Amino acid sequence: MDTAPPREYTVNGAGLRSAPAVPLARALSRRHPPLLQRSIRYHRPRAPFCGVGFCTGCLVRVNGIPNVRACTYEPRSGDRIRTENAWPSSRFDLLGLLDVIFPHGIDTLHGFRRPRMVVPWYHRVVRQLAGYGKLPTPGPAATPPPGELVDRPVVIVGAGRTGRWVGEQLNARGVRALLLDRRAPTQPEPALEIRSRTTVAFLPPPAGTTGRRFRLVATQPGSSALMVRAESVVVASGGYDTSLLFPGNDRPGVLTADGTLALSGDHGAPPFTHAVVVGGGQRAAAMLDRFGEAVDAVVAPGAIEPQVTARATNLGVPLYPRTIIARANGHRRVRSVLLASRGRGASFEVPVDAVVLAHRRLPNNQLLFQAGARMSWRSIPGGYYPELDPAGRTSVPGLFAYGTVAGGAGAPADASTLAECVVTNAGPWPDPSPSIVEEMPNELDGYYREFLDRPRGRGKTIACACEDVLLEEVEEASRAGFRGIEVVKRYTSLGTGLCQGRYCLPDALLLLAILEGRTPPEVGYIRQRPPVVPVTLGALAELPEPAPESAA
Ligand code: FES
Repeated sequence: MDTAPPREYTVNGAGLRSAPAVPLARALSRRHPPLLQRSIRYHRPRAPFCGVGFCTGCLVRVNGIPNVRACTYEPRSGDRIRTENAWPSSRFDLLGLLDVIFPHGIDTLHGFRRPRMVVPWYHRVVRQLAGYGKLPTPGPAATPPPGELVDRPVVIVGAGRTGRWVGEQLNARGVRALLLDRRAPTQPEPALEIRSRTTVAFLPPPAGTTGRRFRLVATQPGSSALMVRAESVVVASGGYDTSLLFPGNDRPGVLTADGTLALSGDHGAPPFTHAVVVGGGQRAAAMLDRFGEAVDAVVAPGAIEPQVTARATNLGVPLYPRTIIARANGHRRVRSVLLASRGRGASFEVPVDAVVLAHRRLPNNQLLFQAGARMSWRSIPGGYYPELDPAGRTSVPGLFAYGTVAGGAGAPADASTLAECVVTNAGPWPDPSPSIVEEMPNELDGYYREFLDRPRGRGKTIACACEDVLLEEVEEASRAGFRGIEVVKRYTSLGTGLCQGRYCLPDALLLLAILEGRTPPEVGYIRQRPPVVPVTLGALAELPEPAPESAA
């Protein structure tokens, strides 16, 4: 039992206390997610969405440091925490009027050009109003801790179930791997060397570095950065629950299944009293298992699997397969959802205070893209997976993928084959053929085709929550002849926010494929730019520079 004293701190001046190791967002979630943020352009109310440190729904200022993610930050006694990006408060923000005055959005691409002499003033004002938070409060210059140089034969990125399993298999073969994980530590694993709360990026991209070691930079908030060198890297970074497009899709109370689990903790109550769960598969079934008492309906864009039907029937929860979410109503939180059966069925309203997105889980594949591994599009669930040989080897020598990120269900059955291959580093490296070839259309394809054809009524549909880009702006860009995700990104700023496209890109690829009449791979992909968590320049400057290695 944890006997450490509770943490005492203030949030906007009000005293709070919470148990140690409880993230701030969870400590503030009573019956619904706390309203902590306002959006960048329209100052729309925002609350924790992903719960795992990727989105921009929970940024707060801690002791003068802006943009700390409340869903992963564990408060310490004496912390002074403030919400920002709103005046006078995140609950009542005067600039929230922009959302009302511009119900169809602000045309920043064509507006604010006249009269010419006022343009510099526009720019100054917009710069003041936009952006996340203010610069850090100047304090006594802190000397950044010196960086570390770490050499290991193998680095495993991800210390979840599959990453730890690979680590144990390597241990059994006498190879001690370093595991890097972005989450807080869970149970102690004395047999494994795990560095938690660590974000990883390849430095530089190792494509074509046959026979040389990988270089990774690993950063930890408030701590020193690591320069890690390794012969082999196993990416076991898991997956995440994605977003969905509908009017009001950014309202506080719309959150992912990941977010629901994070805000509830291991055994806590969910951050809602009545929810609609979106999804008809395994993830929706898991939500029913855990939070069934507080679920009022299960809605799926396509079919609902028998495992969900069985659970919902036991709980008396109504099922709505092949149903469109026409709108989430509410302002500072969800009050109800408007649903409509696909095929132009009648719409009906369900009073709920949350929408839990559990319809589509995608791999955390950003590192594989960075490393230059060859990737294949998998139409179900609609995402990119690495091309692998049976041992888990990617097209980049020394780089492996395992578990959910590799396209498997995460079962650790083949970890020993992979570990054997990592240890022997045996060549020749294969030319892995595309491991996944699926011609089935994604069920969201038909869903979005209908959704785009429907009158949308009131309410903004947010295509990119970090940058407040509207679906209509993406449609307009497409109508104007901009083709391909990279060009649309530059035109609209979709995908350029702090989440680096994790939540907007999967839907944008499907949408642009429909709008352009092409396949998602033809629509392209954006360059992955690490890191998605703020790192001080001081910490990076303190990284040791390893001696150059000679090419093999
Ligand atoms: S809810 Fe904290 S980053 Fe998404």
